[in-house]
Amino acid sequence: MKIPQPPATLLELVDWAEQRLATAPLAYGHGTDNPRDEAAWLVLAGAGFAPDDPAIDPDTAVDAAAVETIGGWVQRRIEERLPTAYLTGRAWFAGLPFRVNEHVLVPRSPLAEPIAERFAPWIGERPLERILEIGTGCGCIAAACAHAFPEARVDATDIDDGALALAATNLAELGLDDRVALHRADLFDGLPRRRYDLIVSNPPYVDRAAMAALPAEYRHEPGSALGAGEDGLDVIAPLLMAAGDWLVEDGLLVVETGRAGAALTARWPRLPLTWLEFDHGGEGVFVIEADALRGHDFSADGRSG
Ligand SMILES: C[S@@+](CC[C@H](N)C(=O)[O-])C[C@H]1O[C@@H](n2cnc3c(N)ncnc32)[C@H](O)[C@@H]1O
Repeated sequence: MKIPQPPATLLELVDWAEQRLATAPLAYGHGTDNPRDEAAWLVLAGAGFAPDDPAIDPDTAVDAAAVETIGGWVQRRIEERLPTAYLTGRAWFAGLPFRVNEHVLVPRSPLAEPIAERFAPWIGERPLERILEIGTGCGCIAAACAHAFPEARVDATDIDDGALALAATNLAELGLDDRVALHRADLFDGLPRRRYDLIVSNPPYVDRAAMAALPAEYRHEPGSALGAGEDGLDVIAPLLMAAGDWLVEDGLLVVETGRAGAALTARWPRLPLTWLEFDHGGEGVFVIEADALRGHDFSADGRSG
């Protein structure tokens, strides 16, 4: 099926792209879950529209250069199985725009929802001074926290220099670089010694079997952002054991674990984790208060290693 030629409309191009995508063996999960939404993302971005642009009209004519861009992206999405965000170079998280490239995970964490709610009822209206995000990637969670907690300063870390460089660009473009500081750090190693009201992380947590079965789209993402050893706990476990020493007395730790949550509760069955429920989809995120974390004897509970 040939691409509609200029002056094709946005709607004609979305219909065409949807048909092309729907007949290809693609995996979704990088911001959309169906070919129609993915087609709309590709076409609107190729035509130069942000997804929330009020000027979007299905009958808008698209010029020849944009039609060529859109055609090329749809072809690469199918042939190379590239996530759309890497083709367009953009993704949205918590209503904010971010540049993305293959140094960073495509933002999709369900943490956007509880961050926007200021982790009520744990935090809610209580003002926070300091927030730490571990494993910031493109900077999306740190930026969303800075937005939701305008009174707070945020430290954000990563072990990957490419990710930190992109996060710096994003934070500057969002005007948040005066309140969000980036650090190259392996978990807490590399951070200035201080205590935080809130530590939040979407760390790597994919176990070895799931890594081996990942669809092609996910293999374009950095392996170090996804893979976390045999049971997916290689980063989460040391993070949990150390976090108590970095939280203020009434601090809070929030960690996304995905499916590694089952391995986590099997390893430390008495750890008092509260699993969040989401209105807009998602699972596998726990909350634990600092005193519960500090009071927990990791070596006496289950398997500590
Ligand atoms: C799942 S990605 C999350 C990226 C971003 N926060 C998001 O939610 O889209 C995990 C990130 O943690 C970083 N990372 C992996 N191991 C780390 C470690 N030991 N210390 C700090 N960051 C780490 C990876 O480089 C990657 O950017």
